[in-house]
Amino acid sequence: MTDLQKITPAAKALPDAQTVTEVTHWTDRLFSFRCTRPRSLRFRSGEFVMIGLLGDNGKPLLRAYSIASPSWDEELEFYSIKVPDGPLTSKLQHIQPGDEIILRPKPVGTLVLDALLPGKRLWLFATGTGVAPFASLLRDPETYEKFEQVILMHTCRQKAELEYGRQLVESLPEDPLIGEFVGDKLLYYPTTTQEESARGGRITDNLTSGKVFADLGVPPLDPVADRGMVCGSLDFNTDMKAILEEAGLREGANSEPAEYVVEKAFVG
Ligand code: A2P
Repeated sequence: MTDLQKITPAAKALPDAQTVTEVTHWTDRLFSFRCTRPRSLRFRSGEFVMIGLLGDNGKPLLRAYSIASPSWDEELEFYSIKVPDGPLTSKLQHIQPGDEIILRPKPVGTLVLDALLPGKRLWLFATGTGVAPFASLLRDPETYEKFEQVILMHTCRQKAELEYGRQLVESLPEDPLIGEFVGDKLLYYPTTTQEESARGGRITDNLTSGKVFADLGVPPLDPVADRGMVCGSLDFNTDMKAILEEAGLREGANSEPAEYVVEKAFVG
């Protein structure tokens, strides 16, 4: 009997159990999955919820995960790292369609459009699995209704780690539901730092050197026009905050919208 089979029957007894419908393994370190959505769950694109499995001690083992699907989707999608000795992801990476996971239907988070003042251009800055909340926002018509231009900068070490985001972005203009909202508003700037690819370099370096502005033909960051959302490691977030503050943008929150918002990408 696998660990998961041991976990599954007990999870079914929990009121917060949801059924996995699809699992995609992107690399040996990254996977995404979809599951049923509780009827009562309302959330804003960009928010996160607690999800997990029953641990060996019979208690729920939960972690905060950004919802990667948009708020209109009838299912939920999540994008996760696999940590070999991670308490949750060492088990979660083995889920298959039909398995049950635990999902606490209490969405929260600051990477929401409501936490930003109106602006012209929305920048989404992500490293690694930090792209998950943006996968939700990029599929939400409201994102394109509120902004003239939406720019996703996503940086990973290897090319294969960009693939989840790349396939999502490339599918958007043709998407029957939101393609017309996306139009030609979306610009995509993927880079790798430890493998050759079309574009290289850290997001921070491409901003401070001005390379990304030159490559995309957009003006430098300006607090009147530009809004930012940041999601990555603690170090990345700290460095990005410094760059955005230097450009004159201020950190916002649900209670006090401003020019940018930040959240840590979740791991474990
Ligand atoms: P690098 O390869 O130069 O460290 P990680 O897997 O360590 O979280 O990194 C994911 C991506 O984020 C990598 O491409 C990494 O670049 C980049 N990165 C890590 N820390 C920072 C930072 N402080 N500022 C900008 N990019 C960063």
